[in-house]
Amino acid sequence: MNEPVLTKRIPTSPWGDPGTRHVVHYDEFVATGGYEALRKAISMDRADVVTLVKDCILRGRGGAGFPAGLKWSFLPEPDGEKRYLCINCDEAEPGTFKDRLLVDYDPHLVLEGIAIACWACDIDVAYFFIRGEYHHQAKVMEHAIQEAYRNGVFGGKGLLGGAVDHVVECHLHRSAGAYICGEETGLLEAVEGKRGWPRIKPPFPAVKGVFGRPTIVNNVETLACVGPIVEHGSDWWKQHGCESTIGAAPSYGPKLMGVSGHVNRPGVFECDLGIPLRELIESDKYCNGMRGGKRFKGAIAGGVSMGVLGPDQYEAEMDFDIGTKYDVLGLGTACPTVFDEDTDMVAVARNCARFFKNESCGQCTPCREGADWMLKVLLRIERGGGTTKDLDLVLELAGSMGLTPGTTICGLADGNNWAVRTIVNKYRGEFEARLKPSLIPVTISS
Ligand SMILES: Cc1cc2nc3c(=O)[nH]c(=O)nc-3n(C[C@H](O)[C@H](O)[C@H](O)COP(=O)(O)O)c2cc1C
Ligand code: SF4
Repeated sequence: MNEPVLTKRIPTSPWGDPGTRHVVHYDEFVATGGYEALRKAISMDRADVVTLVKDCILRGRGGAGFPAGLKWSFLPEPDGEKRYLCINCDEAEPGTFKDRLLVDYDPHLVLEGIAIACWACDIDVAYFFIRGEYHHQAKVMEHAIQEAYRNGVFGGKGLLGGAVDHVVECHLHRSAGAYICGEETGLLEAVEGKRGWPRIKPPFPAVKGVFGRPTIVNNVETLACVGPIVEHGSDWWKQHGCESTIGAAPSYGPKLMGVSGHVNRPGVFECDLGIPLRELIESDKYCNGMRGGKRFKGAIAGGVSMGVLGPDQYEAEMDFDIGTKYDVLGLGTACPTVFDEDTDMVAVARNCARFFKNESCGQCTPCREGADWMLKVLLRIERGGGTTKDLDLVLELAGSMGLTPGTTICGLADGNNWAVRTIVNKYRGEFEARLKPSLIPVTISS
């Protein structure tokens, strides 16, 4: 990348010194070109804005990579009643902290994307759903929303002080702090004030979402991409990122990648999609190498739900092909957690399993019971009391949980499945070394 797009106003290596970061308030945002994309969008037909986002193949940045423009086009024709946008800032996936950067420092970039999406999709109300633990970020966003109201972006006679007769209301909704509320239908329930229990799909939210009305759920970063897309167009957008090398949909655009773990400089970096993991970690522009010069042992691809990249997958390109090419669930949030050679992968698997066990909402038996059982078996193996059968049991349990095997309502169980299964498969020797010696008598032939 030659210049930052999403972090244009957020000093980030290699373009700026993170020590000089500050919240970009409304006046500074406008002085640096902010809300011009909204002005341009409202001068366009709504349908043309949707077509533009569709042409860009803006793949969702919340985990699943579903194209935003396509999702928007699933909305039914307006019927005069309310339609909603829910902005997913739950960000409770372990190792993921990229949306926080945008909210912390450039909240109006996100609000501009929200306003454009509401115009394009003829949406009246936006709920900014923010993770319960993000106390500071909730205050920053609430302040930015109020600034946006005061300056006529939201409310009043219509967008941008009545430049068009389309009023958008925007509310901040604080989550109570459960991971499952980030799943889009769990989020809808939570916005309605209920327990965050995911819903069976279909119907999809675009048809029947919050309060039973058509609703778009988009990630914070996805919406932050919308302003720059409207400003610069699809040719410019497609210069960022990469084509698929396996005949799948392309991975266009810049992407925030939050790297944590055993690297010299952890943090959020903006890169083109497709950057090799090795470059992200080794380059002095980004993480500046493994901590203490240790060897790379593996990395969680992008949130623990995606599973791990093994020691021989250091060259993996960080794009939406990664799942098919490197036996992980997908790119997820593109926030890798990096492990060095000293990491105990049995403990990593146990830790992941504990997370999913604690966060299961309990509606589906394979997730509720399977997660608990899997944790118990992994603990047994970690403590040296496991047998070979236990290892097979863990794999069997993992493989039976999730949307992929068709046994659960939501994808939380798939996260458990992929996290544990890929760790066991890619580091099997480490697990086997912890197993109890077999008690079955060995027959020695004479
Ligand atoms: C258990 C679980 C947790 C999730 N948490 C989040 C989250 O915190 N933020 C997010 O944007 N998407 C999260 N997702 C994905 C959402 O369900 C949904 O796909 C996403 O918000 C859609 O936005 P996008 O298309 O812009 O990526 C989660 C999914 C699952 C299964
Ligand atoms: S898969 Fe797990 S988290 Fe998702 S609905 Fe079922 S029990 Fe709840």
